[in-house]
Amino acid sequence: MSQHWNELYAQTQDLYGTAANLFIQEIAEKIRIEGKTLAIAEGEGRNILYLAEQARQHNYPFSAEVWDYSDVALKHLSSKAEATGINLELRHVDLTAAKWPSERYQNVICVFGHFDTETQTKVLEGIRESLLNGGWFIGELYSKEQINYKTGGPKNIEYLYYPWDILQVFKQDHIHHFYVGEQERQEGELHCGKCHVIQFAIQVKK
Ligand SMILES: C[S@@+](CC[C@H](N)C(=O)[O-])C[C@H]1O[C@@H](n2cnc3c(N)ncnc32)[C@H](O)[C@@H]1O
Repeated sequence: MSQHWNELYAQTQDLYGTAANLFIQEIAEKIRIEGKTLAIAEGEGRNILYLAEQARQHNYPFSAEVWDYSDVALKHLSSKAEATGINLELRHVDLTAAKWPSERYQNVICVFGHFDTETQTKVLEGIRESLLNGGWFIGELYSKEQINYKTGGPKNIEYLYYPWDILQVFKQDHIHHFYVGEQERQEGELHCGKCHVIQFAIQVKK
């Protein structure tokens, strides 16, 4: 599967555009995203670069780590980070077999990270484990309903999400924002038009 992603990223520079996902932009206006931040399945890094730039402009403390299994995407991200003077720790991690640290991050970001059902559960549980008390899990994913919209995301419905699978893992935490429904997205050539998403900003309580 990483081969599939490498081929896509090799064909098109900025596969999902250069702008951060709109929900990430909106939530960053409401929540101060600072401290040690992990972005998973972050590809060419449009979201983490945006958050790092926001932190730089507002003088927040911020350090960023990125996990993805596409070497090509990580190479593109490395060049962009160097060009903008942003320091990122880039890690080649296959999330089907990731080892999650305990209580390390203030924020974990996941934008359109889609995996098989077993990996979804492992990733959600790993994210919760890796967050500090008071840390935030923030992101946007396609819901199972997206299969009918045909405006982006996996063609295999297994890779899409049920909202309750997320809520099940974070049931004892503070749900600051949880939205399931339609949005309009224009993100490169692959995410185009009306789509069906799950958005979340959840603060963990440990
Ligand atoms: C739809 S792209 C989203 C990229 C980025 N978050 C964004 O919004 O622009 C999905 C990303 O997940 C990565 N990915 C998919 N499965 C993965 C896995 N098992 N381990 C690590 N990365 C994975 C792909 O390489 C790709 O970069």
